[in-house]
Amino acid sequence: MTGKATIIGTGSYLPRHILTNQELEKIVDTSDDWINTRTGIKTRRIAGAGEETSIMASQAAYKAMEMAGVTALELDMIIVGTITPEMVMPSCACLVQKEIGAENAFAFDVSAACSGFVYALEIADRYLKNAPDMKILVIGAETLSARVDWQDRNTCVLFGDGAGACVVTGSKAEDGLLASQLYSDGRLWQLLSLDAVPRRYCPVVDYGTVPERNSFCDGSAFNMVGKDVFKYAVREMGDAVENLLNREGITVNDINLMIPHQANIRILKSLAERVNLSFKKVYTTIQKYGNSSAASLPIALDEANREGRLQKGNLLLFSVFGGGFTWGVVLWRW
Ligand code: ACO
Repeated sequence: MTGKATIIGTGSYLPRHILTNQELEKIVDTSDDWINTRTGIKTRRIAGAGEETSIMASQAAYKAMEMAGVTALELDMIIVGTITPEMVMPSCACLVQKEIGAENAFAFDVSAACSGFVYALEIADRYLKNAPDMKILVIGAETLSARVDWQDRNTCVLFGDGAGACVVTGSKAEDGLLASQLYSDGRLWQLLSLDAVPRRYCPVVDYGTVPERNSFCDGSAFNMVGKDVFKYAVREMGDAVENLLNREGITVNDINLMIPHQANIRILKSLAERVNLSFKKVYTTIQKYGNSSAASLPIALDEANREGRLQKGNLLLFSVFGGGFTWGVVLWRW
């Protein structure tokens, strides 16, 4: 013993195609005003040809490795949080390994829905406690648009695609992962679910300018009880934040920035209110990118990093919630 995870490089990739609320008005019975008021989302990114999950993940990884000054051959491990890999086997992480040429790494996916990136980060931290010299690529990447029912206005307005990545290694200094707590409750699985579907029945579609409904996805798109998801997300993330801060003897005023999973601006405002954190200290990208599940937090982290919002010594809070249910919170010294 003992190291702990510290981030030495971040990167992200967003698909080129921007889908606006106005374009969605032409597909389903909705309005810019409804979407904006209920979710805070104005646009989202939709992956097209050449922007499969592993490709976006690899593009994000290149940027993170460049910032970290780490080559692909120096990587020991690759973990991808995703619920939308191209294939069940091989994993998205193995496809990333092939794509970037990380021949010395071992690679696997983590399936924890919107919590996937934080679950992966926590696994990396456990390895680094015993082997602090390891260089680990931790990624969240999703192509949710391929699994959305584009006639279901309850869900199709919410989701977007993208990838975010971090290069993580061990630190014995102040910086890095200070504390974390993960949770899941499989009893509540029916409130948010997505069937497993063979890829040939659910191909990634090149949407062009406007998504067309993928009829092959009938019955295999998102099932969601939105109001319950909202309620549980605020309550469980709120309790998780309070429990972790109490356990670590830290007050909410000590937090410099919360970088949460980007699900809905109202969830984030309710969460901030519940834990008495000023909303000015909550970093959001939901307006631009919608909900990109496991990718949303590492994309936000990369943007905050590149904008100069993260100063050395800052105390960060990562907070996530997703299907399963899964959720978790991480306290991080930048
Ligand atoms: N446009 C217009 N009307 C719509 C739309 C739409 N896109 N979607 C639903 N409606 C209608 C419904 O049909 C319903 O109409 P009805 O009352 O005539 O039956 C009405 O709007 C529903 O209104 P509310 O129930 O008041 O909507 P609510 O305020 O609960 O907002 C929402 C719905 C946005 C889905 C909200 O419940 C939510 O965000 N929940 C969390 C879901 C979530 O974040 N899921 C992502 C995955 S989980 C995660 O990432 C944490």
